[in-house]
Amino acid sequence: MQTAGLFITFEGIDGAGKSTHIAALAEAFRAQGREVTLTREPGGTPLAEKLRELVLNDPMDPLCEALLMFAARRDHLQQVIEPALARREVVLCDRFTDATFAYQGAGRGFDLAVLGQLERWVQAMPAQDGRLRQPDLTVWFDLPPAVAADRLAGARLPDRFESQPQAFFERVAAGYGDRLRQDPARFVRVPSDQPREAVWRAVRLSFEQRGWLQVEGVR
Ligand code: TYD
Repeated sequence: MQTAGLFITFEGIDGAGKSTHIAALAEAFRAQGREVTLTREPGGTPLAEKLRELVLNDPMDPLCEALLMFAARRDHLQQVIEPALARREVVLCDRFTDATFAYQGAGRGFDLAVLGQLERWVQAMPAQDGRLRQPDLTVWFDLPPAVAADRLAGARLPDRFESQPQAFFERVAAGYGDRLRQDPARFVRVPSDQPREAVWRAVRLSFEQRGWLQVEGVR
């Protein structure tokens, strides 16, 4: 079993059902004796959680939105993600930069070249000789926006993103597809319009195939 640090991110439109699978993966890694850091974006540090409050609730333009997402990300990388990877932990992060490309870029129509520049500034890490920190794997829960809308309907008070029309989520989903095509080796796409148990099997299998989780039942 691999003992280097692992940085795994989870993506998908609102309602795609990431949370239960992230929790189950944390459990599976811990059962194998790995230390796990469970975290999320925007957020994950006291400063970044304050920025999350603002960006999810206060009206602002897409440039403000993108800058706050990346400001939160910089603090999160420095305070939480990089130290945990240095301790060889498994970092499971609910959303990361692909969400900025999908939501602020494809969803809001913000300039992708500017987002690319911000990505290069924010994810350049001194401990890696300035190379960009990127996830070792990104699990994309791919759910048709119409299905997600049904799942979210009446669930709770929607935030600034959840209250967007379905057309917005169509663009966000397409944005995730574009990111996958640019770096297919980093992604696993999990079709998520199927029972939760089937989604979990697909997620688990992709970790077993990489040798990151033991095949269930095999010791
Ligand atoms: P999420 O944590 O999935 O929401 P919740 O906890 O309410 O299920 O994500 C919060 C929202 O932030 C989600 O609608 C997507 C959005 N978001 C962006 O627009 N850009 C980003 O870079 C990130 C990380 C999230």
